[in-house]
Amino acid sequence: MTRTTAPFPLTRLRRTRKMEALRGLVRENHLSVADLIWPVFVREGEDDATPIPSMPGVERLTIDRLVRAAVAAHEAGIPAICLFPYIEPELKTEDCAGAWDEDNLVNRAIRAIKAEVPELAVMTDVALDPYNINGHDGYVVEGEIVNDMTVEALVKMALAQARAGADIIGPSDMMDGRIGMIRQVLEAEGFDKVSIMSYAAKYASGFYGPFRDAVGASGALKGDKKTYQMDPANGDEALRLVERDLHEGADMVMVKPGMPYLDICRRVQDRFGVPTFAYQVSGEYAMLAGAFERGWLDREKVMLESLMCFKRAGCNGILTYFAPEAAKLLRG
Ligand code: PBG
Repeated sequence: MTRTTAPFPLTRLRRTRKMEALRGLVRENHLSVADLIWPVFVREGEDDATPIPSMPGVERLTIDRLVRAAVAAHEAGIPAICLFPYIEPELKTEDCAGAWDEDNLVNRAIRAIKAEVPELAVMTDVALDPYNINGHDGYVVEGEIVNDMTVEALVKMALAQARAGADIIGPSDMMDGRIGMIRQVLEAEGFDKVSIMSYAAKYASGFYGPFRDAVGASGALKGDKKTYQMDPANGDEALRLVERDLHEGADMVMVKPGMPYLDICRRVQDRFGVPTFAYQVSGEYAMLAGAFERGWLDREKVMLESLMCFKRAGCNGILTYFAPEAAKLLRG
């Protein structure tokens, strides 16, 4: 074909896309390994790992394996790891006392990681669901998920995690008032340097399905979580929750799930300008990993694109099961 040119206006946005050098110069957002928090599942036992069928590539690790994985994550440049326990069904109770046992699985795991790689930040999850016989994040009294009694339990749980050496406490329970109560007790007990990342805007989402398999809560869960987690139809309410949690002493806030809620990430960052994180949850991972396995999507390209979108939406960082793999790609 013979080349012809037309008398367009002076603006040709393709000019800065001409070559990678120029694309790099005008790039607005950057994804780096320093943005990643790696959620991991821990189980009892020695030198073993259990695959999670609905999360291909993700395993529940025994503490010794977890420590090795934590060392590798730190060496790969990942700044933080977030721990979730698989609790055997027979250990789940109505009073959830395992949650604040100083020697429970999570607290032993925290101590083991901090002993080996103190530079790696360790984040925890604060909610009763792994320990609860009915799978809920809070106590169930006469069929109702009660708020204030649950908060008392969450405070004990958070304190035990802080004592074990947790750097970031992550309340994911969506009870009212828990950030303020946890902050107050942490201050009173000398843990004024422990951060709180509030799962502030956490939706009652179908995307948590594989996670509930991973922590063994799917069989246990009776009913749904709609009386405490947010309605996916709401946006303004997320801003009220973030404002409230910041006021109660949260250092960082999270939006969860991630990809279906990027509008919320953007609104939170624009309105408050505070450290904002998104959780690319188990169902998002499963959706992508399933398509990668079948060869329907390009693994490396789509993985990084799926993480970059959070940066564009204003997030400071992302909790993602892809963290170790993404770290390799980002460094390589
Ligand atoms: C527990 C909790 C959940 C997740 C993180 N903490 C599940 C839930 O609320 O039912 C989900 C994480 C994921 O899906 O990857 N409170």
